Amino acid sequence: MFLSFEGGEGAGKSTQIQSLLVWLQAQGHTVLVTRQPGGTDYGQRIRHLILDHHPSELLSPRAELFLYLADRAHHVDTVIRPALAAGQIVICDRYADSTLAYQGYGRGLDLNELKTLNHLATGGLQPDLTFWLDLDPALGHARIGDRPGKDRLESEALAFHQKVRSGYAALAAEEPLRWQRVDASLSAQAVLAELKTRLGPYLNSPVEALP
Ligand code: TMP
Repeated sequence: MFLSFEGGEGAGKSTQIQSLLVWLQAQGHTVLVTRQPGGTDYGQRIRHLILDHHPSELLSPRAELFLYLADRAHHVDTVIRPALAAGQIVICDRYADSTLAYQGYGRGLDLNELKTLNHLATGGLQPDLTFWLDLDPALGHARIGDRPGKDRLESEALAFHQKVRSGYAALAAEEPLRWQRVDASLSAQAVLAELKTRLGPYLNSPVEALP
């Protein structure tokens, strides 16, 4: 089973993924937790290229796009597909939908072109379920406000993050069976309880039986 997590800054994805990992492992599942960008050694280097601040030079949106896609292609081929083939549950912190939300809805690149490029990068591999931890970007900003060394994207204006959030809402509406929206303004315990409830029915079913 392939699960992805999506959401804006400060939504608590990493915390929830770690808690879910512990819960799934306690039930005897073999789980691989990974992320994009940065789930491989090459990906780590790409992550730095994208997220580090270079005040003297702006990274063009199309160049940024191709860096995410390069990270994704390598990650799918060398990490995600092999783990799925070995029967592991894969949990990916961000996946192709982040490109649609951030580069498409956020930066204004053409959505159909992005979908084609995502397909090329992933070979068509889609998550079985996508958990969208939805949070008002103003709250997300407040949560990460004191975090030292905010990256280039975290420092984007609130308006950018509002567009990303609307993008997630549109994507979730397009594929309601795959997308699970969870209210990330709730406490961490409440969000985790919600994730367990939503995931429970799928855990004892073969992947082919997923909707
Ligand atoms: P993270 O901080 O959640 O690891 O994500 C890194 C940043 O990269 C985050 O601001 C979202 C952004 N991003 C994109 O813009 N497009 C993408 O395709 C991915 C995977 C992430």
